[in-house]
Amino acid sequence: MELKVYKDKQQVAAKFSAYLVKQIESNDRLNVALSGGSTPKVVFDYLAEHYKDLDWGKVYFFWGDERCVPPTHVESNYKMTVDHLLKHISIPEENIHRVKGEDDPAKEAERYSSELKQYLPLTNGIPQFDLIILGMGSDGHTASIFPHQMELWNSKNLTDVAEHPETGQKRITLTGQVINNAKEVAFLVTGADKKEKVSTILSGTGESNQYPAALVAPESGQLVWFLDEEAYGQRA
Ligand code: 6PG
Repeated sequence: MELKVYKDKQQVAAKFSAYLVKQIESNDRLNVALSGGSTPKVVFDYLAEHYKDLDWGKVYFFWGDERCVPPTHVESNYKMTVDHLLKHISIPEENIHRVKGEDDPAKEAERYSSELKQYLPLTNGIPQFDLIILGMGSDGHTASIFPHQMELWNSKNLTDVAEHPETGQKRITLTGQVINNAKEVAFLVTGADKKEKVSTILSGTGESNQYPAALVAPESGQLVWFLDEEAYGQRA
C-alpha cells in the first residue's frame, strides 16, 4: 500500500491526474472504473483543462457505482463526469460504459455485470479493471457499499443494488470481489470529515473492519491512497 499526502484537494487533483495520464500513456488500452463524489469532480476539471489533447481513445470508462436516477439528474455520477470531463475531451461513444440509473435497479445490476464480463479480461474468473478509482465517505463507505450493508462486499455477484442509509436512494455498486481483483486501486480522499475514519483504517485495528473502505486490498497489492492534509490529519 502506498500513501500519498498533498496539501489540498487541488494538489491531489493535479498529482492524481499525472498518475492517471502516465498509465494511459504506457498502455494501449486502459479500463478504468470511475467514482462519484466531490474529489473526482476536481480531478475531472483538472484533466479537462490540462490534458484535453491526450489520446483518450485508449481509455474505456466504467463506473464503480451509480445512483439510480436518470442520466440527466443532478445526482447522476455519469452526468457529473459528462459535465466535468467527457464533454470537454474527444472520446468515442463506445468507450463509455455507463450504468443505466434510470432502469430497474435489480435488472440493471445484472445487465451491468454481464457488460463487465463481456468487455473486461477475466482474471481468476472475475472481470479485471486496470484501475478502479474509489472515494470514501465520512462513514467509511466506499463505492456504494455502506457500513449497514457489509454483506454486499462479499456478494457472489459482480454488482449489486445498494441503499443509501439516510435517503434510501438505490444505487448500483461493484462488489468486493471485483474491487479486489483490479490491477490497481486508487483512493481519492479529501476533507477534514474523513480524518477519523482514515486514521482508524490506516491503523488497521479491529475496529476498522466495520468500514467497507477498510476491506479494499487488491490481490495485486497495488493500492494507492491520495489524501489531502485535512483527511490525513497532519502535515505531509
Ligand atoms: C458516490 C460515491 C462515493 C463517494 C464518497 C466520497 O457516488 O457517492 O462513489 O463512494 O466517492 O462518498 O465522496 P466525496 O469525494 O464527495 O467525499
